[in-house]
Order: sequence, then C-alpha cells, then structure tokens
Amino acid sequence: MTADRDIRLYEVGPRDGLQNEAKIVPTAIKVALIERLAAAGLTKIEAASFVSPKWVPQMAGSAEVMTSLKRISGVDYPVLTPNIKGFEAALAAGVTEVAIFGAASESFSQKNINCSIAESLDRFRPVMDRAAEENIAVRGYVSCVVGCPYEGAIDPGVVAHVTHEMIQMGCYEVSLGDTIGVGTPKDIRDMLAVVMDQVPVSSLALHCHDTYGQALANILAGLEMGISVIDSSAAGLGGCPYAKGASGNVATEDVLYMLNGMGLNTGVDLDKIVEAAWYISDFLGRAPASKVAVAMKKC
Ligand code: HMG
Ligand code: MG
Repeated sequence: MTADRDIRLYEVGPRDGLQNEAKIVPTAIKVALIERLAAAGLTKIEAASFVSPKWVPQMAGSAEVMTSLKRISGVDYPVLTPNIKGFEAALAAGVTEVAIFGAASESFSQKNINCSIAESLDRFRPVMDRAAEENIAVRGYVSCVVGCPYEGAIDPGVVAHVTHEMIQMGCYEVSLGDTIGVGTPKDIRDMLAVVMDQVPVSSLALHCHDTYGQALANILAGLEMGISVIDSSAAGLGGCPYAKGASGNVATEDVLYMLNGMGLNTGVDLDKIVEAAWYISDFLGRAPASKVAVAMKKC
C-alpha cells in the first residue's frame, strides 16, 4: 500500500442506511442528507432504491428523492434496481447510475429478491442490456460473501463465480458485502484471494457491516490486499431488512478517520461528514452508531 494512493468512499447511508429504519423518513430529509454528503466531497452517493415498496416501504418515495435532488457535477447518485421494472422507473426519474444486487447464498437470494442465484443473474441481463443502450453505468453487489444468516459460512468459490458473472455482464465494479458483519480479517483475506483469481482487484469494492465490531479491521485487511473502494454509511446507519440482526454499515466517519490517519487521500471532509451524521441521527432521535461522530461532538 502506498501512502499517496487515493481511496474512493462509496456512501450507502441514504439507501442501505435508511432502508431498514421503521420510522418513515420524509423525502425532504433524505434529500437534505444526500446534499450534505455531496457537500462533504463524496463523489458516489447511493441515494435510493427502486425495489418493491411492499418489500421495503422506506424506499417507496425513491422517484421523488431523485427528482427533488439538486445534483452536483462530479457526483454520481446510483440507485438499486433489482429488475427491469426498477430500472425503467429509475430511468424515468433521471438516474444515471444503477446497481444490481445478488448474493453468494441461495437462501439469502430467495429471502432478499425472491429467486435463486441463477435466476437473479438471468433477471440482471435485461437490466444490463437496457443500461448499455442508455449509457448508464452499472455496479454489482454480492451479498453474504463470508457468512449468511440462513446458511452460515459461505464458499468463496461461489462469491468468485457470481462476481465474475457480474463483471462479464458489464458491471464496472462489484461490491463484496459482509451483509451481516460476521467476518474477521482472515475470512476477508481468504475470500478476496479466491475472488482475485478471477476478477482484478481494481474492479472490487468492500462493503462491511459492523455487527461484531470487525468492520475497520476487515477494511484494513482489504486495503492491504489492494482494495481501493470502500462502502460506508454516515452515522453507521442501516442494515438489511432480509438479514435479521445485521447492524449498520461501517460508519463513513470511522473509515475516514482511519484513512486520514494512514495518510490515504479520499477528498472527503471529516467535519462535514460528522455534521451530516448528526443531522440524520437527530432526526431519528438517537446518537450516531459511530465512535468518531460521538467523539468529535464532545470536542
Ligand atoms: P417478486 O414478488 O418476486 O416480484 O419480488 P414480482 O416480479 O413477482 O412482482 C411482485 C409485485 O412487485 C408486483 O406488484 C410488481 O409490480 C412489483 P403487484 O402486482 O403485486 O402490485 N414489483 C416492483 N415494484 C416496484 N419496483 C420494482 C418491482 N419489481 C416488482 N423494481 C423483487 C422481487 C426483487 C421486486 C422484491 O424481492 C424486492 O423488491 N426485493 C428488494 C429487497 C431489498 O431491497 N433488500 C435490500 C437491498 S439488498 C442489501 O441491502 C444488501 C446490500 O447492501 C449489500 C450487502 O450488504 O450485502 C446491497
Ligand atoms: Mg449492505
């Protein structure tokens, strides 16, 4: 790892962060959060999710979020699109980047998107075709890369297979999700070694949830293996509605504090992220789940 290497933070707070909140967050608050995150220097902010509102009620207003947002040049605002219906709705709302999301666990795939892994890949192909026609960039996600709430430990070979398929379909990058935050640095290293045999590390991102407090250690393990894109969520918000017990993603401010301390450049302003973390946490009526946001508030 070189000290001057750029690391890209991919912010998932407005989507992964909020999708699991029981209290419905009004569009104006979601938009204000996204605009604060953009003002902090983040260049990728996952803003919404065009999924079934019956499955994820919090994301029901996603079209309104995307049409209300004042977009800043140089910032991408990707959204989740599980199928062609979601893709067409996202396109109509002016979206310019989308993400497809699959899993390395058959049980999680069924619970989360109601189909097998193979069926999910078939569903993604028409999304990729339409995205290519419309010149829309597509990111991929693979969930449960080290552990699954229904199946336990996951075979890294399956992670490599799904990741490779997504890259072959045309995803510019695939984010590897420790969806329930059970992995340790050894699990992450072992999994990455197998995936990197099939996909270059420059096309991979790491998406760690912090359920067992392992996220920063896991990210460090990923950085040491050449990962340069890290998913994170302001205030450590979030979880997946179909992964019971999963806590939020690693907090953006915690990752940023670590990267700043290591001399790694992200272009993101820590004070402004902490301010955004407190903004959404105050709305939700609790302190941020992140140590850094709490420590910096006291200073
Ligand atoms: P299904 O029931 O199999 O879909 O759900 P269907 O095609 O049979 O349609 C059923 C109904 O859903 C129909 O409506 C469709 O129109 C509607 P009805 O006739 O009953 O009124 N529908 C839609 N509505 C809006 N937008 C759509 C859409 N598609 C169908 N795109 C489906 C399949 C994928 C839609 C459903 O399972 C779903 O929405 N799942 C989303 C679950 C989800 O969002 N989970 C959280 C995100 S993943 C995550 O958090 C992990 C990640 O962070 C990485 C990590 O941490 O590992 C990414
Ligand atoms: Mg997630």
